[in-house]
Order: sequence, then C-alpha cells, then structure tokens
Amino acid sequence: MLKVGIVGVGTVGTSVCKILEDNKDIITARAGIEIVPVAGVVNNLSKKRDVSIKLTDNPDDLLNDDSIDVIIELMGGVEEPYAVVKKALEKGKAVVTANKALLAYHRYELQAIAGDIAFEYEAAVAGGIPIINALRDGLTANHIESIRGIINGTCNYMLDKMINENIPYDIILKEAQELGYAEADPTFDVGGFDAAHKLLILASIAYGIDAKPEDILIEGIENISAEDIEFAKEFNYAIKLLGIAKKKDNKVELRVHSVLIPNDEMIAKVDGVMNGISVIGDKVGETLFYGAGAGGDATASAVIANIIDIARKGKGSPMLGFKKPLEDGLTLASKDDIETKYYLRMQVEDKSGVLAKVATILGNKNISIKTMLQKPCDKDKANLLLSTHTCKEKDIKEALSELESSGVVLSAPAMIRIEE
Ligand code: HSE
Repeated sequence: MLKVGIVGVGTVGTSVCKILEDNKDIITARAGIEIVPVAGVVNNLSKKRDVSIKLTDNPDDLLNDDSIDVIIELMGGVEEPYAVVKKALEKGKAVVTANKALLAYHRYELQAIAGDIAFEYEAAVAGGIPIINALRDGLTANHIESIRGIINGTCNYMLDKMINENIPYDIILKEAQELGYAEADPTFDVGGFDAAHKLLILASIAYGIDAKPEDILIEGIENISAEDIEFAKEFNYAIKLLGIAKKKDNKVELRVHSVLIPNDEMIAKVDGVMNGISVIGDKVGETLFYGAGAGGDATASAVIANIIDIARKGKGSPMLGFKKPLEDGLTLASKDDIETKYYLRMQVEDKSGVLAKVATILGNKNISIKTMLQKPCDKDKANLLLSTHTCKEKDIKEALSELESSGVVLSAPAMIRIEE
C-alpha cells in the first residue's frame, strides 16, 4: 500500500480523494499497489469537507508521520509550500505538486534537494493535459524549436467572450471569478503571471533555461480594447494570451503577452476556458496538446498520474528530466532582441500631417507599416490601427515612447504582438 498525505484539501485535493476511490480498481492495476489517501492538512478545521481522511491544521503532523510515503502539495503560494516540500524531501518522502508559482521560483533548488527522490508536477502546467510528460519523456529525441501555449484558461475564456459576445472586460472577469477559473488574486491571470509561471517550467524542461518571472517579458490582457477587437476581426485574426518559448541559434526567447494570431492556425481555435499547447520539435514537427487547464477532476487526474508513476518506479528520474546542461551555451535571449510583427493602436487628431509624422517616427526606427485602418472617433479625432512587418522589440518600444512624447498621439499608444 502506498500512503498519501495531502497538504491543502480544497477542490483539487477533494477530487484526488474521490478519484482514488471511484477508480480504485484501474488505479491499483496500473500502479501495481493500492494508493490510499490517509491524511490531509487544511487551514480551517471547522469547515465541512467532502472527504473521509483524517484532517489536521499542522503540516508537521504529516511530515513527521513515517508511514506516509508521498506528500501531495496543493496549498498555493510560494514560500510556505517551499518549506513544506523541502522538509518532505529531506524526510525522504516523494512529492507531487500542482503549484506552478512554487516551481517558477524554486524548481532548481528543489531538483537539487530531491536528488533521486521522486518529485512530480504534471498538474502545475495546463491542469489535465500531460504536457510535462510529453516534454520530459515523449519528445526527448528532439531539439525543441518552439512552444506556444494558451496556458491560462481565465484569459482565454475572457478573450473569447469579449470577442465573440462583445461582453465588456470587467463583467467577464467577474464571471470568470464566479465560475472558479481565476486565481485567488485574478491579476495573476489577467496580468500574464500565471501563464509566465507555467512557461518557465516548460522552458526548463525543453531548454534547461533557469530564469525567474522577473527575467522575462510578461504582459497581460488588460489593455485589449474594442478597437483592437475590430481590427482583429477585419484582418481575420484571433486574439490570444500566449506563453511563447522560441529557440533562435543559441538564444531562447521567453515571453507572455497577448497576440494577434491568424484564425486558421490550430491554436487560434482553442476557445473558452480550454488550454492548448503547440510544441515543435526538429524531428517530430508540430504536436498539439488540448484539454482542460484547470478544474478539480482534470487537475486531480494529473496529480494521480504522478502518484501512479511514483508507485511504479519508486525513485524518480531527475525532476526536470536532465542531469547535465541540456545544450552548452544556450541562454535566455534579451527582451530587447525579440523580433516579431506588431499591431499598434493610437488616437490622433484628425488633421493634416499627423499620419506623416507617425510614419516618420516609425520609419526612423526601420519599422515598416504593413496594413492600416483609420477610424474616425470623437470630434476631430481618429483611431489609427496599423500592423507592421517584422521588427525588433527595442525599436518598437523606442518608437512608442517617441510617439507618446511627440504630441502627435493623444494618449499612450497600445501594442499587441502578431504571432504568425
Ligand atoms: N487560473 C488558472 C487558469 C488556473 O485560469 O488557467 C489553472 O492554473
């Protein structure tokens, strides 16, 4: 019998207990041993919960219990779970976590602490989609050329409703919170941080890149306007929040931001709260993973798969899937060197010379305009909506700040990167 203790018995923890009971036969057959949840940690012992395991409010009760083989960490947060997980590993217990923020900050320290002890985290990225397994096992023969993922269901749900049902941002954010999709602090979702945590985990497995959230470009969906949506529809784009990892020579770009992406790309068709991840390997070509990125049962499905794996193999392989540096000399690309196409939106006075000034500022930075729409708005004002050919992030940022200070635009221009 493999005994499991769950630190943080909320929606996912409750699903873990329920699925271990509901699917006991098949899980035992696959694991080769019965997996039994025996105890859980909660903050509030007086709250009624739908589980029959023994509950405590002190993680040490589980960590000091030598009969518990595996600790499931489902607390959320960073430093508190880090202390719990570290202690569990030091006590020789295997660990399974669904905690992406913990891994975004501490995955390399935890890998060192874990050594040969199994440390698994399939549920931390894209909930029920086995993307960690795919990258760490299924695609290991490949150099990974790129990963592009819709890995935040809240943003995807919101963008879908904003674009296809014209529901305003604030209303749809509230709805996403009520439906339980959003993080406790929804700025983690709409600001792109949740997606960044997940991207950093994927980038470690694919490239061995050791970066923290503050090292990479992270933007959210807060600035998407009705005009942007109109432009996207006019030019047959979807708007998505993507986590992107791309290898170019010996640099890896890591970035999270909203993008305009052609409607006929498969990933553009991932709608609602679903997640979708495209991985391109140099030998396998493109692979696409689609499924539920959150939710009790989908996330618990991934947690239990990890427990079964631990039951089968005992001690695990290295947490991030490699022991030596993956590729010598491969480093994180500077944010300034990112090259892509851009969509720009700016409000200007509708008078002669304005368009010429905008074009001059862009031209001086070697930024070439590809398409343009001018939409009259309030009296004597117009919205300029334009897309560029490929240019450098540094040039576009400088051009935007020049536009803002030039007096030509009436408020700070907005920008969305185009992914095609
Ligand atoms: N808030 C996250 C999302 C939950 O919307 O995708 C799953 O990590």
